[in-house]
Amino acid sequence: MSGNARERRHVSRRGLLGAVGAAGVAGLGAGGLTGYTAAAGAGERTESALAAARSRGGPEDGRPPALLTPTPAHVRVVAVDVLAEDGTETREAAREVLAAWSREARALHERGPAALGEGAPTQGMHPASLGVTLGLGPSLLERAGLADRRPPRMEDLPAFGTDQLNPDWCGGDLMLHVGAEDPVVLSAAVDHLLRTVRGRAGVRWALPGFQRSAAAAVDPEATPRNLMGQVDGTVNPRPDEALFGTQVLASHTERPLAWMDGGSYVVVRRIRMLLDDWFALEPRRREEVIGRRLADGAPLGGDRERDRPDLSALDDAGEPVIARDAHIRLASPESTLGARMLRRGFNYDLGWDTDGRRQAGLLFTAWQADPRTGFTAVQRGLDEGHDALGAYVRHEGSALFAVPPVREGEPHVAHSLL
Ligand code: HEM
Repeated sequence: MSGNARERRHVSRRGLLGAVGAAGVAGLGAGGLTGYTAAAGAGERTESALAAARSRGGPEDGRPPALLTPTPAHVRVVAVDVLAEDGTETREAAREVLAAWSREARALHERGPAALGEGAPTQGMHPASLGVTLGLGPSLLERAGLADRRPPRMEDLPAFGTDQLNPDWCGGDLMLHVGAEDPVVLSAAVDHLLRTVRGRAGVRWALPGFQRSAAAAVDPEATPRNLMGQVDGTVNPRPDEALFGTQVLASHTERPLAWMDGGSYVVVRRIRMLLDDWFALEPRRREEVIGRRLADGAPLGGDRERDRPDLSALDDAGEPVIARDAHIRLASPESTLGARMLRRGFNYDLGWDTDGRRQAGLLFTAWQADPRTGFTAVQRGLDEGHDALGAYVRHEGSALFAVPPVREGEPHVAHSLL
Protein backbone atom coordinates (compact mmCIF):
# COMPACT_ATOMS: atom_id res chain seq x y z
CA MET A 1 0.00 0.00 0.00
CA SER A 2 1.38 3.44 -0.82
CA GLY A 3 1.84 6.03 1.92
CA ASN A 4 -0.91 8.14 0.45
CA ALA A 5 -3.37 5.28 0.30
CA ARG A 6 -2.57 4.37 3.88
CA GLU A 7 -3.11 7.95 4.97
CA ARG A 8 -6.44 8.20 3.16
CA ARG A 9 -7.71 5.09 4.90
CA HIS A 10 -6.51 6.37 8.21
CA VAL A 11 -8.20 9.70 7.56
CA SER A 12 -11.40 7.93 6.68
CA ARG A 13 -11.46 6.05 9.97
CA ARG A 14 -10.56 9.18 11.89
CA GLY A 15 -13.58 10.82 10.37
CA LEU A 16 -15.86 8.19 11.74
CA LEU A 17 -14.37 8.74 15.17
CA GLY A 18 -14.84 12.45 14.65
CA ALA A 19 -18.49 12.01 13.92
CA VAL A 20 -18.78 9.85 17.01
CA GLY A 21 -17.28 12.71 18.93
CA ALA A 22 -20.08 14.95 17.80
CA ALA A 23 -22.73 12.39 18.50
CA GLY A 24 -21.45 10.85 21.71
CA VAL A 25 -19.48 7.71 22.36
CA ALA A 26 -22.66 5.66 22.44
CA GLY A 27 -22.80 6.21 18.70
CA LEU A 28 -19.81 3.91 18.06
CA GLY A 29 -21.87 0.97 16.92
CA ALA A 30 -22.16 -1.29 13.94
CA GLY A 31 -22.99 1.66 11.72
CA GLY A 32 -19.61 3.28 12.20
CA LEU A 33 -17.55 0.14 11.77
CA THR A 34 -19.66 -1.09 8.90
CA GLY A 35 -19.38 2.28 7.22
CA TYR A 36 -15.62 2.21 7.44
CA THR A 37 -15.27 -1.41 6.49
CA ALA A 38 -17.39 -0.81 3.45
CA ALA A 39 -15.19 2.12 2.49
CA ALA A 40 -11.81 0.52 3.20
CA GLY A 41 -12.74 -3.07 2.59
CA ALA A 42 -10.69 -4.80 5.29
CA GLY A 43 -11.40 -5.44 8.95
CA GLU A 44 -7.70 -5.71 9.72
CA ARG A 45 -7.06 -2.18 8.53
CA THR A 46 -10.06 -1.00 10.54
CA GLU A 47 -8.54 -2.26 13.77
CA SER A 48 -5.08 -0.85 13.19
CA ALA A 49 -6.50 2.49 12.11
CA LEU A 50 -8.71 2.54 15.18
CA ALA A 51 -5.72 1.87 17.42
CA ALA A 52 -3.73 4.59 15.64
CA ALA A 53 -6.54 7.11 15.99
CA ARG A 54 -6.88 6.28 19.68
CA SER A 55 -3.19 6.74 20.29
CA ARG A 56 -3.49 10.25 18.91
CA GLY A 57 -6.34 11.12 21.24
CA GLY A 58 -9.97 10.80 20.38
CA PRO A 59 -13.53 11.35 21.42
CA GLU A 60 -13.29 8.64 24.08
CA ASP A 61 -12.25 11.45 26.40
CA GLY A 62 -14.84 13.89 25.03
CA ARG A 63 -12.48 15.82 22.75
CA PRO A 64 -14.32 17.59 19.95
CA PRO A 65 -13.64 16.29 16.40
CA ALA A 66 -12.00 19.62 15.51
CA LEU A 67 -9.11 18.70 17.83
CA LEU A 68 -8.39 15.32 16.25
CA THR A 69 -5.54 14.65 13.84
CA PRO A 70 -4.95 14.46 10.97
CA THR A 71 -6.80 17.66 10.22
CA PRO A 72 -9.35 17.56 7.39
CA ALA A 73 -8.64 19.11 3.99
CA HIS A 74 -11.78 21.26 4.16
CA VAL A 75 -13.58 23.03 6.99
CA ARG A 76 -16.38 25.50 7.31
CA VAL A 77 -16.93 27.63 10.38
CA VAL A 78 -20.44 29.06 10.62
CA ALA A 79 -21.52 31.47 13.37
CA VAL A 80 -25.27 31.66 13.91
CA ASP A 81 -27.48 33.84 16.06
CA VAL A 82 -30.45 32.32 17.81
CA LEU A 83 -33.74 33.85 16.67
CA ALA A 84 -35.55 34.73 19.88
CA GLU A 85 -36.87 37.74 21.76
CA ASP A 86 -36.30 37.16 25.48
CA GLY A 87 -34.10 35.05 27.74
CA THR A 88 -36.44 32.08 28.07
CA GLU A 89 -37.02 31.90 24.32
CA THR A 90 -33.30 32.20 23.64
CA ARG A 91 -32.49 29.32 25.97
CA GLU A 92 -35.23 27.19 24.47
CA ALA A 93 -34.14 27.93 20.90
CA ALA A 94 -30.47 27.25 21.71
CA ARG A 95 -31.42 23.92 23.27
CA GLU A 96 -33.42 23.00 20.18
CA VAL A 97 -30.60 23.95 17.82
CA LEU A 98 -27.95 22.00 19.74
CA ALA A 99 -30.28 19.00 20.09
CA ALA A 100 -31.04 19.02 16.34
CA TRP A 101 -27.39 19.36 15.37
CA SER A 102 -26.34 16.58 17.76
CA ARG A 103 -29.10 14.31 16.42
CA GLU A 104 -28.17 14.99 12.79
CA ALA A 105 -24.45 14.56 13.48
CA ARG A 106 -25.22 11.16 15.02
CA ALA A 107 -27.29 10.19 11.97
CA LEU A 108 -24.50 11.28 9.63
CA HIS A 109 -22.10 9.11 11.59
CA GLU A 110 -24.33 6.07 11.59
CA ARG A 111 -25.57 6.27 8.02
CA GLY A 112 -22.98 8.42 6.30
CA PRO A 113 -24.06 10.99 3.70
CA ALA A 114 -27.18 8.82 3.10
CA ALA A 115 -28.54 10.62 6.17
CA LEU A 116 -28.70 13.78 4.05
CA GLY A 117 -31.83 12.42 2.43
CA GLU A 118 -33.03 11.45 -1.02
CA GLY A 119 -31.55 13.45 -3.87
CA ALA A 120 -28.64 14.86 -1.85
CA PRO A 121 -25.50 15.90 -3.80
CA THR A 122 -23.48 13.27 -1.95
CA GLN A 123 -25.07 10.18 -3.51
CA GLY A 124 -22.42 7.57 -4.15
CA MET A 125 -19.91 9.17 -1.78
CA HIS A 126 -18.08 7.94 1.33
CA PRO A 127 -18.37 9.74 4.70
CA ALA A 128 -15.12 11.63 3.85
CA SER A 129 -14.07 12.08 7.48
CA LEU A 130 -17.01 14.28 8.31
CA GLY A 131 -16.67 15.76 11.81
CA VAL A 132 -19.03 18.19 13.52
CA THR A 133 -17.96 20.40 16.45
CA LEU A 134 -20.33 22.75 18.28
CA GLY A 135 -19.60 25.85 20.35
CA LEU A 136 -21.39 28.53 22.37
CA GLY A 137 -20.58 32.24 22.19
CA PRO A 138 -20.58 34.66 25.14
CA SER A 139 -23.55 36.50 23.60
CA LEU A 140 -25.70 33.39 23.92
CA LEU A 141 -25.10 33.10 27.65
CA GLU A 142 -25.87 36.78 28.14
CA ARG A 143 -29.01 36.69 26.00
CA ALA A 144 -30.27 33.49 27.62
CA GLY A 145 -29.95 34.90 31.15
CA LEU A 146 -27.07 32.54 31.94
CA ALA A 147 -24.42 35.16 32.76
CA ASP A 148 -23.78 33.47 36.11
CA ARG A 149 -22.80 30.27 34.26
CA ARG A 150 -20.30 32.13 32.06
CA PRO A 151 -16.74 31.18 33.05
CA PRO A 152 -14.51 34.22 33.74
CA ARG A 153 -12.07 32.91 31.14
CA MET A 154 -14.86 33.30 28.57
CA GLU A 155 -14.63 37.09 28.89
CA ASP A 156 -14.91 39.08 25.67
CA LEU A 157 -11.60 39.36 23.82
CA PRO A 158 -10.02 42.78 24.35
CA ALA A 159 -9.50 45.18 21.45
CA PHE A 160 -6.01 44.76 19.98
CA GLY A 161 -3.99 47.60 18.50
CA THR A 162 -3.77 45.95 15.11
CA ASP A 163 -7.48 44.99 14.85
CA GLN A 164 -9.27 46.11 11.71
CA LEU A 165 -12.40 44.15 12.47
CA ASN A 166 -15.54 44.18 10.37
CA PRO A 167 -18.47 43.70 12.80
CA ASP A 168 -20.24 41.57 10.16
CA TRP A 169 -17.49 38.97 10.60
CA CYS A 170 -17.41 38.92 14.41
CA GLY A 171 -19.16 37.13 17.28
CA GLY A 172 -22.08 34.74 17.10
CA ASP A 173 -24.35 32.91 19.58
CA LEU A 174 -23.39 29.43 18.40
CA MET A 175 -20.61 27.93 16.29
CA LEU A 176 -20.97 25.11 13.81
CA HIS A 177 -17.54 23.80 12.82
CA VAL A 178 -17.63 21.07 10.18
CA GLY A 179 -14.63 19.35 8.64
CA ALA A 180 -14.41 16.80 5.80
CA GLU A 181 -11.93 15.49 3.25
CA ASP A 182 -14.28 16.35 0.42
CA PRO A 183 -15.84 19.76 -0.40
CA VAL A 184 -19.13 18.30 -1.70
CA VAL A 185 -19.69 16.26 1.47
CA LEU A 186 -18.81 19.32 3.55
CA SER A 187 -21.09 21.69 1.65
CA ALA A 188 -24.04 19.30 1.70
CA ALA A 189 -23.63 18.53 5.39
CA VAL A 190 -23.43 22.21 6.39
CA ASP A 191 -26.44 23.01 4.25
CA HIS A 192 -28.39 20.15 5.81
CA LEU A 193 -27.44 21.09 9.37
CA LEU A 194 -28.48 24.70 8.83
CA ARG A 195 -31.75 23.69 7.19
CA THR A 196 -32.69 21.58 10.21
CA VAL A 197 -32.61 24.70 12.42
CA ARG A 198 -34.29 27.13 10.04
CA GLY A 199 -36.51 29.56 11.92
CA ARG A 200 -34.49 28.95 15.09
CA ALA A 201 -31.08 30.29 14.04
CA GLY A 202 -29.81 32.64 11.34
CA VAL A 203 -26.32 32.75 9.86
CA ARG A 204 -24.25 35.67 11.13
CA TRP A 205 -21.06 34.90 9.21
CA ALA A 206 -19.39 31.88 7.68
CA LEU A 207 -15.95 31.14 6.32
CA PRO A 208 -14.72 28.13 4.35
CA GLY A 209 -11.16 26.97 4.89
CA PHE A 210 -8.93 24.40 3.25
CA GLN A 211 -5.49 22.90 3.31
CA ARG A 212 -3.61 20.66 0.97
CA SER A 213 -5.21 17.26 0.72
CA ALA A 214 -3.38 14.17 1.94
CA ALA A 215 -3.76 12.73 -1.56
CA ALA A 216 -1.86 15.63 -3.17
CA ALA A 217 0.94 15.80 -0.60
CA VAL A 218 4.25 14.11 -1.38
CA ASP A 219 4.50 13.52 2.37
CA PRO A 220 1.02 13.59 3.96
CA GLU A 221 2.63 13.67 7.43
CA ALA A 222 4.50 16.91 6.64
CA THR A 223 3.34 20.16 8.25
CA PRO A 224 1.14 21.96 5.70
CA ARG A 225 1.94 25.38 4.23
CA ASN A 226 -0.26 28.47 4.31
CA LEU A 227 -0.94 30.76 1.33
CA MET A 228 2.17 32.80 2.17
CA GLY A 229 4.16 29.65 1.45
CA GLN A 230 5.28 29.15 5.05
CA VAL A 231 5.35 25.83 6.85
CA ASP A 232 2.66 26.65 9.43
CA GLY A 233 1.81 24.63 12.53
CA THR A 234 5.24 23.35 13.60
CA VAL A 235 5.22 24.43 17.24
CA ASN A 236 1.97 23.09 18.67
CA PRO A 237 1.05 20.94 21.65
CA ARG A 238 0.72 17.33 20.44
CA PRO A 239 -2.32 15.26 21.44
CA ASP A 240 -0.07 12.51 22.88
CA GLU A 241 1.82 14.95 25.14
CA ALA A 242 0.91 15.07 28.81
CA LEU A 243 0.71 18.87 28.65
CA PHE A 244 -1.93 18.79 25.88
CA GLY A 245 -4.66 18.31 28.48
CA THR A 246 -3.68 21.25 30.68
CA GLN A 247 -2.90 23.63 27.81
CA VAL A 248 -5.82 22.89 25.53
CA LEU A 249 -8.60 21.38 27.67
CA ALA A 250 -10.29 23.39 30.43
CA SER A 251 -10.73 22.17 33.97
CA HIS A 252 -13.76 23.60 35.82
CA THR A 253 -14.49 21.97 39.16
CA GLU A 254 -16.97 24.69 40.29
CA ARG A 255 -20.48 23.34 39.89
CA PRO A 256 -22.06 26.22 37.89
CA LEU A 257 -19.22 25.98 35.36
CA ALA A 258 -19.03 22.18 35.22
CA TRP A 259 -20.73 22.23 31.80
CA MET A 260 -17.33 23.30 30.39
CA ASP A 261 -15.18 20.89 32.41
CA GLY A 262 -13.03 19.06 29.85
CA GLY A 263 -14.04 21.39 27.00
CA SER A 264 -11.89 23.88 25.11
CA TYR A 265 -12.13 27.56 24.22
CA VAL A 266 -11.61 28.44 20.58
CA VAL A 267 -10.67 31.86 19.22
CA VAL A 268 -11.52 32.19 15.53
CA ARG A 269 -9.85 34.99 13.55
CA ARG A 270 -10.36 35.88 9.93
CA ILE A 271 -6.92 37.18 8.94
CA ARG A 272 -6.53 38.57 5.45
CA MET A 273 -3.09 38.17 3.89
CA LEU A 274 -1.72 40.98 1.74
CA LEU A 275 -0.27 38.49 -0.69
CA ASP A 276 0.92 40.95 -3.35
CA ASP A 277 2.97 42.87 -0.76
CA TRP A 278 4.25 39.62 0.72
CA PHE A 279 5.43 38.10 -2.53
CA ALA A 280 7.05 41.42 -3.53
CA LEU A 281 9.56 40.81 -0.71
CA GLU A 282 12.80 39.01 -1.41
CA PRO A 283 12.63 35.43 -0.10
CA ARG A 284 15.37 36.22 2.45
CA ARG A 285 13.28 39.06 3.89
CA ARG A 286 10.22 36.78 4.06
CA GLU A 287 12.29 34.40 6.18
CA GLU A 288 13.38 37.20 8.52
CA VAL A 289 9.78 38.28 9.07
CA ILE A 290 8.83 34.87 10.45
CA GLY A 291 12.24 33.72 11.74
CA ARG A 292 12.13 30.45 9.81
CA ARG A 293 13.39 29.19 6.46
CA LEU A 294 10.94 28.99 3.57
CA ALA A 295 12.42 25.78 2.16
CA ASP A 296 11.89 23.52 5.14
CA GLY A 297 10.48 25.60 8.01
CA ALA A 298 13.69 25.28 10.09
CA PRO A 299 14.32 28.18 12.51
CA LEU A 300 16.97 30.60 11.25
CA GLY A 301 20.28 29.34 12.57
CA GLY A 302 18.90 25.79 12.88
CA ASP A 303 19.06 22.74 10.62
CA ARG A 304 15.66 21.09 10.74
CA GLU A 305 12.02 22.10 11.15
CA ARG A 306 11.74 20.63 14.65
CA ASP A 307 14.95 22.24 15.95
CA ARG A 308 14.36 24.52 18.90
CA PRO A 309 14.79 28.17 17.80
CA ASP A 310 17.90 29.70 19.40
CA LEU A 311 16.58 33.12 20.39
CA SER A 312 19.90 34.20 21.90
CA ALA A 313 22.07 33.47 18.83
CA LEU A 314 23.86 36.48 17.30
CA ASP A 315 25.29 36.85 13.81
CA ASP A 316 28.75 38.15 12.91
CA ALA A 317 27.53 41.75 13.18
CA GLY A 318 26.23 41.07 16.70
CA GLU A 319 22.59 41.20 15.61
CA PRO A 320 20.07 38.51 16.63
CA VAL A 321 19.87 35.67 14.06
CA ILE A 322 16.12 35.60 14.71
CA ALA A 323 15.16 39.29 14.52
CA ARG A 324 13.75 41.17 17.50
CA ASP A 325 10.43 41.61 15.70
CA ALA A 326 10.33 38.14 14.08
CA HIS A 327 6.93 36.44 14.45
CA ILE A 328 8.23 33.28 16.15
CA ARG A 329 10.31 35.25 18.69
CA LEU A 330 7.35 37.39 19.79
CA ALA A 331 4.90 34.45 19.80
CA SER A 332 7.22 32.07 21.65
CA PRO A 333 6.52 30.95 25.23
CA GLU A 334 9.78 32.67 26.24
CA SER A 335 8.28 36.03 25.21
CA THR A 336 4.71 35.38 26.38
CA LEU A 337 5.12 33.99 29.90
CA GLY A 338 4.68 30.43 28.69
CA ALA A 339 1.44 31.02 26.78
CA ARG A 340 0.37 27.97 24.79
CA MET A 341 -2.48 27.15 22.43
CA LEU A 342 -3.23 24.65 19.72
CA ARG A 343 -3.21 26.50 16.39
CA ARG A 344 -5.30 25.00 13.64
CA GLY A 345 -4.97 27.28 10.63
CA PHE A 346 -6.80 26.78 7.36
CA ASN A 347 -6.42 28.82 4.18
CA TYR A 348 -9.35 30.75 2.83
CA ASP A 349 -9.62 32.09 -0.71
CA LEU A 350 -12.74 33.97 -1.75
CA GLY A 351 -11.26 35.49 -4.91
CA TRP A 352 -11.35 39.29 -5.16
CA ASP A 353 -13.64 41.91 -3.64
CA THR A 354 -15.49 44.54 -5.70
CA ASP A 355 -12.45 46.85 -5.48
CA GLY A 356 -10.27 44.15 -6.97
CA ARG A 357 -8.50 43.41 -3.70
CA ARG A 358 -7.55 39.85 -2.92
CA GLN A 359 -9.83 38.15 -0.38
CA ALA A 360 -7.57 35.41 0.87
CA GLY A 361 -5.81 34.56 4.11
CA LEU A 362 -5.92 32.45 7.19
CA LEU A 363 -8.96 31.04 8.94
CA PHE A 364 -7.04 30.98 12.20
CA THR A 365 -8.40 28.89 15.05
CA ALA A 366 -6.64 28.74 18.42
CA TRP A 367 -7.80 26.17 21.00
CA GLN A 368 -6.85 26.56 24.61
CA ALA A 369 -7.82 25.98 28.23
CA ASP A 370 -7.90 29.73 28.93
CA PRO A 371 -7.93 32.40 26.19
CA ARG A 372 -6.69 35.07 28.62
CA THR A 373 -3.36 33.30 29.05
CA GLY A 374 -3.43 31.79 25.54
CA PHE A 375 -4.53 33.77 22.50
CA THR A 376 -4.89 37.14 24.24
CA ALA A 377 -1.43 36.96 25.85
CA VAL A 378 0.21 36.03 22.54
CA GLN A 379 -1.68 38.60 20.44
CA ARG A 380 -0.74 41.32 22.97
CA GLY A 381 2.88 40.23 22.71
CA LEU A 382 2.74 40.39 18.92
CA ASP A 383 1.22 43.88 19.04
CA GLU A 384 3.61 45.25 21.65
CA GLY A 385 6.66 43.83 19.91
CA HIS A 386 5.53 45.21 16.52
CA ASP A 387 5.37 41.77 14.90
CA ALA A 388 7.08 42.09 11.51
CA LEU A 389 4.30 39.94 10.02
CA GLY A 390 1.75 42.61 10.97
CA ALA A 391 2.51 44.67 7.82
CA TYR A 392 1.34 41.77 5.65
CA VAL A 393 -1.84 40.66 7.44
CA ARG A 394 -5.14 42.27 8.56
CA HIS A 395 -7.29 40.86 11.37
CA GLU A 396 -10.77 41.40 9.94
CA GLY A 397 -13.00 38.96 11.85
CA SER A 398 -12.99 37.63 15.41
CA ALA A 399 -15.03 35.36 17.65
CA LEU A 400 -14.70 33.32 20.82
CA PHE A 401 -16.64 30.15 21.54
CA ALA A 402 -16.78 27.69 24.41
CA VAL A 403 -16.70 24.14 23.03
CA PRO A 404 -18.07 21.83 25.72
CA PRO A 405 -16.95 18.21 25.97
CA VAL A 406 -19.06 15.48 24.41
CA ARG A 407 -20.42 13.43 27.31
CA GLU A 408 -21.68 9.91 27.02
CA GLY A 409 -25.39 9.65 27.66
CA GLU A 410 -26.10 13.36 27.18
CA PRO A 411 -28.52 14.03 24.30
CA HIS A 412 -26.53 17.08 23.20
CA VAL A 413 -23.52 19.18 24.16
CA ALA A 414 -24.03 21.72 26.96
CA HIS A 415 -27.04 19.69 28.12
CA SER A 416 -26.36 20.47 31.77
CA LEU A 417 -26.23 24.20 30.94
CA LEU A 418 -29.42 24.49 28.93
C1 HEM B 1 -1.98 35.28 8.95
C2 HEM B 1 -1.51 35.28 10.19
C3 HEM B 1 -0.40 34.36 10.67
C4 HEM B 1 0.52 33.68 9.95
C5 HEM B 1 0.71 33.67 8.46
C6 HEM B 1 1.34 32.95 10.89
C7 HEM B 1 2.41 32.15 10.56
C8 HEM B 1 3.21 31.47 11.45
C9 HEM B 1 4.33 30.66 11.09
C10 HEM B 1 4.81 30.39 9.68
C11 HEM B 1 4.87 30.17 12.23
C12 HEM B 1 6.12 29.29 12.36
C13 HEM B 1 5.82 27.83 12.23
C14 HEM B 1 4.97 27.27 13.35
O1 HEM B 1 5.44 27.06 14.47
O2 HEM B 1 3.80 27.06 13.08
C15 HEM B 1 4.07 30.67 13.33
C16 HEM B 1 4.28 30.39 14.65
C17 HEM B 1 3.47 30.79 15.67
N1 HEM B 1 2.39 31.65 15.57
FE1 HEM B 1 1.70 32.49 13.88
N2 HEM B 1 0.88 33.21 12.15
C18 HEM B 1 -0.18 34.05 12.06
C19 HEM B 1 -0.93 34.56 13.11
C20 HEM B 1 -0.77 34.21 14.42
C21 HEM B 1 -1.60 34.67 15.50
C22 HEM B 1 -2.81 35.59 15.36
C23 HEM B 1 -1.13 34.09 16.63
C24 HEM B 1 -1.64 34.23 18.04
C25 HEM B 1 -2.09 35.34 18.57
C26 HEM B 1 0.01 33.28 16.27
C27 HEM B 1 0.75 32.53 17.14
C28 HEM B 1 1.84 31.77 16.80
C29 HEM B 1 2.57 30.95 17.76
C30 HEM B 1 2.25 30.76 19.24
C31 HEM B 1 3.60 30.35 17.05
C32 HEM B 1 4.67 29.40 17.60
C33 HEM B 1 5.79 30.24 18.14
C34 HEM B 1 6.91 29.39 18.71
O3 HEM B 1 6.86 29.05 19.90
O4 HEM B 1 7.85 29.06 17.96
N3 HEM B 1 0.20 33.39 14.92
N4 HEM B 1 3.06 31.47 12.83
